[in-house]
Amino acid sequence: MSAPAPLQSSPVQAPAPTNPDPQSWLPALAGKFIVFDGPDGSGKSTQYTRFAALARNAGVPVAEIREPGGTAVGERIREILLDPIHNEMSLRCEMMLYMASRAQVVEEKILPALKRGELVLADRYVSSTFAYQGAAGGLPIDEIQAVATAACRDAWPDLVVIFDVDQQTAASRLNPLLDRMEQKGAEFHARVRQGYLDEAQRHPNHYTIVDATKSEDIVTTSMLDTIRDRMSK
Ligand code: TYD
Repeated sequence: MSAPAPLQSSPVQAPAPTNPDPQSWLPALAGKFIVFDGPDGSGKSTQYTRFAALARNAGVPVAEIREPGGTAVGERIREILLDPIHNEMSLRCEMMLYMASRAQVVEEKILPALKRGELVLADRYVSSTFAYQGAAGGLPIDEIQAVATAACRDAWPDLVVIFDVDQQTAASRLNPLLDRMEQKGAEFHARVRQGYLDEAQRHPNHYTIVDATKSEDIVTTSMLDTIRDRMSK
């Protein structure tokens, strides 16, 4: 029997250290409710789509909710809300239509999905109403909160991720065919952005901010880092 070859000259390489699955934290999100929000042109919808795909690939059942709309009733309300022909719409009517669409999606989709233990991912939610109809439009927070309490019942998100972007970058990302909300001008949209930042400051336990000015891949990395950190607390 020959002596074993000295270690250094062995042709067999030591196994590479096993790389733990970087997305192994995702399955813990089943049964949670996360909102993606931010100004028009923030790129949140791209990040939302990426996150939903990653969660599904990790085996998490995902309920995707897009506002306004997401139900047959909600899609009809969406048409009224975004059609530039309705520029006489009063602010309270606008706020209540967004909430009406939301009340329907809460009842029809969000609450049942949470009950089934799915991860609910919403592209916009009450945080949008606070920013657009509240901070930018001028409606008092208390009024919006009162209607939201009626519309959402106990469907409150575990985390709201705000994709923050400066106006110049946001404007460069928009489709030139602007809808009724996008047509509201630079000052309005500056107040929307500030509204989101103020909300995040008021509710640090439920909000997190992602710098969305960077490239899509960099934003995805920071989105994943922040959601993982916040949801594992
Ligand atoms: P949408 O085409 O869905 O925009 P995005 O892809 O940016 O989500 O249009 C929704 C518009 O409605 C958008 O300009 C934000 C606005 N909005 C409000 O003003 N209040 C709300 O409560 C919601 C949900 C959206």
